[in-house]
This record gives sequence, C-alpha cells and structure tokens, in this order.
Amino acid sequence: MATEIQFGDDTQANNNLVERALNGEVFVIRGAHDRFKLFDTLISTSVDGIRKGAGDEVARRAETEGFQHIHDWVAPADIPALTDAVYEAIKPLAPAFLKQFVKEAFPTAETLYYEETPNVRFHIPYDLARAQKDSFKSFSKNYGEGKITAHGPHRDSWLDCPSNGVNLWFAVGPVRKGNGLTVYQSDYNGDFVYKESGDIAEGEKLQRPMTFDLAPGDCVMFHTDQVHGSELNRINETRFVISFRMSFGKPVFPNRHFHKYVNADMMETPLEFLARLPAMMQPSFVRTLPWRLRERLSPSPKKEVIAAPPEEIGVERDGKLYVPIKAAPVGAIRGVNPALCVARLSDNEAIAVTRRCPHSGGDFANGWVHKGAITCPWHNLPFDAETGRSPCKTLAQIRRVKCEIIGDEIVIDPTAIEVASQTS
Ligand code: FES
Ligand SMILES: [Fe+2]
Repeated sequence: MATEIQFGDDTQANNNLVERALNGEVFVIRGAHDRFKLFDTLISTSVDGIRKGAGDEVARRAETEGFQHIHDWVAPADIPALTDAVYEAIKPLAPAFLKQFVKEAFPTAETLYYEETPNVRFHIPYDLARAQKDSFKSFSKNYGEGKITAHGPHRDSWLDCPSNGVNLWFAVGPVRKGNGLTVYQSDYNGDFVYKESGDIAEGEKLQRPMTFDLAPGDCVMFHTDQVHGSELNRINETRFVISFRMSFGKPVFPNRHFHKYVNADMMETPLEFLARLPAMMQPSFVRTLPWRLRERLSPSPKKEVIAAPPEEIGVERDGKLYVPIKAAPVGAIRGVNPALCVARLSDNEAIAVTRRCPHSGGDFANGWVHKGAITCPWHNLPFDAETGRSPCKTLAQIRRVKCEIIGDEIVIDPTAIEVASQTS
C-alpha cells in the first residue's frame, strides 16, 4: 500500500519522507500544489507548450476542458510533436519548480541534484496510439520508453539512474487506474534478471503492482530502485504527467555514469554554467569514460537476456495436459506448455488460455488473476476470463481451450477451443 500524504494549510512538512522513500515506501502526495502554490505554473507552462505544439485552439480547450481530452483534438500522429514542444517549454521551469517543491515538502533534505531534463508523458488511449506504433517507437528511441509508449516493468537503476534517487511523478491532468503508473512494491527487494534495454527479462514472475488514481497536482514519490512501469492505456482518457528524477546529496552511480544531474543551488545563479560539475566530479564518471566514448563512436547492439526458460508444468497423456491442482492455487497463473497457461479463478474453476499477450508478448504465466481477469504482468492489462477480451478493442482476444478440474488435477484439452483468438 502506498502511504498517503495530504498537505493542507496546517500540515507540518514531514522531514523524513525522502529517507523513507529510499527505504522502499511509496508515497502519494496530495494537496501539495495548493499549499505551495506551484501547480499553476506547471499548468500554464504546459499550456504554453501545447500552444506551440498544437495551436491556440487545442491549448485553450486543454486548459478549460482538461488535458484528458487531448486525443479528441490532436491526431495521434501529432502526439510526438506536441510532446516535443511541451518538453521544450517545461525544461526551463524545472530549477525553480523543483527547488521550491523540495524546500517546502522536504525541508531538511540534503542538497538537491536533479536530472537536467524532466520527463513529459502523454499517453493517449492505446486503441488510438496503436496505428502510430512505428512513429511512437522512433520517438522512444530518442526520449526513452514511457513518454508516449507504455514502458515495461523496470528499475531506473537498471537504466543507470542513481541508486540514491527518487522519482517525483506529477499528474498534470487526471490519472486513473487503467492509464497510469504501476509500482511493484512487493518486489522491491526482489532479485531480478533484466535485459540490456532495462526491462525485466523474460521468465521473471512479478507480483501484482499498485496503481493510482490521481487528481491534477497529486504526485507519486518512489525510489529509483522500485520496479515500476506503465499501464497500457485502456481507458478513453489521455494521461498527462510530468516526472522528475533527483537525488539529495550527490547522485551515486554504481554502474555507468552518464546521466546529467545538476546542483540545484547553482542553477539560476552566476555559477549556473558549472552546475553539472559537482555530480561529474566522482570516480564513477572517470571510470566509465572509455565506455561513454565507445558508445558515442559505435553503439553496441543490445543482447537479449532470458531469466529462465518458460515454466512448463503440464504433463501430457493421451493428447491432454494435466496439472496438479496444488500447483495452481486460487489467483495464480502457471505455464502449462509453450503455448498455454492455466489460471485458477476459484476453488472450483480453472481456465486454460493462450500464453502470450497480444499487446507485446508478455507471458501470462508470470501474471496473476485479479477480479476474475487474467492480467498481463508487463502493462497490467486485464483480459476477461469469459470472453478473452481486454478493454483495448484493437487487441486480439486470448484463446481459451477446454479445461476442467477433475479430482486433484486440472485437465486441459488443447484441441477443444472454447474462445478463438480474433481481432474485432
Ligand atoms: S499488456 Fe503489454 S505485453 Fe501484455
Ligand atoms: Fe522509470
């Protein structure tokens, strides 16, 4: 469970929030924008960016009707240009915004260092974004995943962010469960294999993450070492978020040191031109210099990493597959063979479905059953157990085959199809 912090006029700022976040607590900070009078600036700067990226009319409507409707006025193909323009507008705001937020919310924290470029995140409904898959992918090559595409479960520390960093993830428009952030807090200390892309490796099993309903101005704070990611946007609202990464005291880079962090006290002073130096003056920067040079001259191809071979607990006899009922407790999904997994919905019911998620191949055997739905572990997308459909209408249904509980076994007939895969 996330810890809720509600800032009101008479709330005393809590001094050890950062320390607690660095020890694995996840905070939802509400009301900070009213108390600190900061949010209006974030809104007006975002609107300026939207005006530059999409014109006066869109900016006016976004400001008056809400950012969650942006996809009604901006074509999916224009979302990268819009995001670009908001990036440009927001970057100069970061020094003053963060300095004031931190001073008010974490008054005893050490010197603030922050990543020079904040992250602007527009996630339009997936069914609209899907047709732009290629252009959104190439945008992600420059800006990283999670800005206009869903980012799979990862730790920022796997992407070489500081190990003593926190994320402040601000809802600019409303964020709902179904289009927001996932934080796999139960897996905070888990030992995971990850791919060079920074995503969790194939074969890793995750526990159900926390998700959030946020009003504009609310913010989630979590350690860069939390496994987190994006929900595939399954609702008819655009979510607009701006997030910042920072450390208190110099950022610590246990692996490769290439992210640029500035000393907040030097920003907007005559010494601003030196603000990057303190974070760079560390052995980690020197140690990884040859790697940075090599990457600049000829970037190395990424290797795919597999944590473990896919789980296959089904035993085949006479064309049917058998799974001991004890191996699939209620709520669990287990891999049966390369094509199928079994999900235990209740004491008396189990279903067998296609194993790979039609979005981008997440293995349902590493997911979970929640509210009767088979949930993909990568972007927290639920598929109805009855119909095989997800709320994303452009994705294929998952196929279901005949499955029964007989005695102490689950018996699956892979040839008896009950729900066939098909796109609507
Ligand atoms: S929801 Fe993205 S891979 Fe399943
Ligand atoms: Fe991240």
